Amino acid sequence: QTEISRVRNLDKIQMGKFEIEPWYFSPYPTEFVDSDMVYICEFCLGYYGDVTPFERHRSKCTLLHPPGNEIYRDDYVSFFEIDGRRQRTWCRNLCLLSKLFLDHKTLYYDVDPFLFYCMATRDEHGCHFVGYFSKEKESAEGYNVACILTLPQYQRRGFGKLLIDFSYLLSKREGKLGSPEKPLSDLGLLGYRAYWQEMIVDILVDGRVEANIEDVGAALAMTTNDVLHTLQNLNMLRYSGKGHCIVLTDAVLEQRERQKEKEKKKGKRSIEPDKLIWKPPI
Ligand code: COA
Ligand code: NA
Repeated sequence: QTEISRVRNLDKIQMGKFEIEPWYFSPYPTEFVDSDMVYICEFCLGYYGDVTPFERHRSKCTLLHPPGNEIYRDDYVSFFEIDGRRQRTWCRNLCLLSKLFLDHKTLYYDVDPFLFYCMATRDEHGCHFVGYFSKEKESAEGYNVACILTLPQYQRRGFGKLLIDFSYLLSKREGKLGSPEKPLSDLGLLGYRAYWQEMIVDILVDGRVEANIEDVGAALAMTTNDVLHTLQNLNMLRYSGKGHCIVLTDAVLEQRERQKEKEKKKGKRSIEPDKLIWKPPI
């Protein structure tokens, strides 16, 4: 708990071709605090306080992608599934790195109970880590995401939406309803709200399912609670003597049209379910 109040301890990190300013404290070894730059290997996520040992490492590091099974590949991104117990060092390095951008308590050492789903873009130099989410192997609360992060240099380009979409695709394959671990950060909430709204409105507009909370939730692998709150936020519920009904208001439809215009300009990406080669781990 004391870590929450600790101030940002690293000035700058370098990773691949990017220099990034950390947002929050992360428990890297204390001697790193004095470095002007911490060098992070973008493949093994190892860290170096000086450029010389870093370059020595880079000349020896053979990793070209996250150290797990590639379970998804389309022409844009790949996903790797990594077991915290089998790849303890890599996952601890990932948790240290992601803590730089996460305000609240995250795990660093006890990675064994988690799977890490890491998203990367590919080019001739290898698979470049973009973001990830972690997931408890057994979640008593039914959470399908523990931590989620898009590295700052890739944020606001639709990758967070792909990560969230992928987490719900896994839940669908498991035949479960999922929800992210609470509390969400401010950015986490913005990302999830945007995703929930878009998915729920689209499925109602398409008329693919009955307009009731349970069927919408089942079709999208979302909990009824998350569907209910999203509909309430959008002012899409009307109550009558018998219960509630869902209405697609003009305001909501207009907002969705504006979003679609934006997506057209940006180039909309989505996860293609057929490209997931994966069975739920037992
Ligand atoms: N301000 C306002 N809205 C934002 C936002 C911001 N800074 N970041 C995301 N959103 C909303 C927008 O509606 C956005 O759609 P738009 O860009 O078309 O307007 C939508 O979320 C999806 O954004 P996207 O580009 O797919 O997300 P991202 O790749 O930036 O990742 C997070 C979102 C939450 C993963 C990312 O902000 C992050 O890693 N934050 C730090 C770690 C964190 O807080 N994780 C959650 C812990 S529970
Ligand atoms: Na946070």
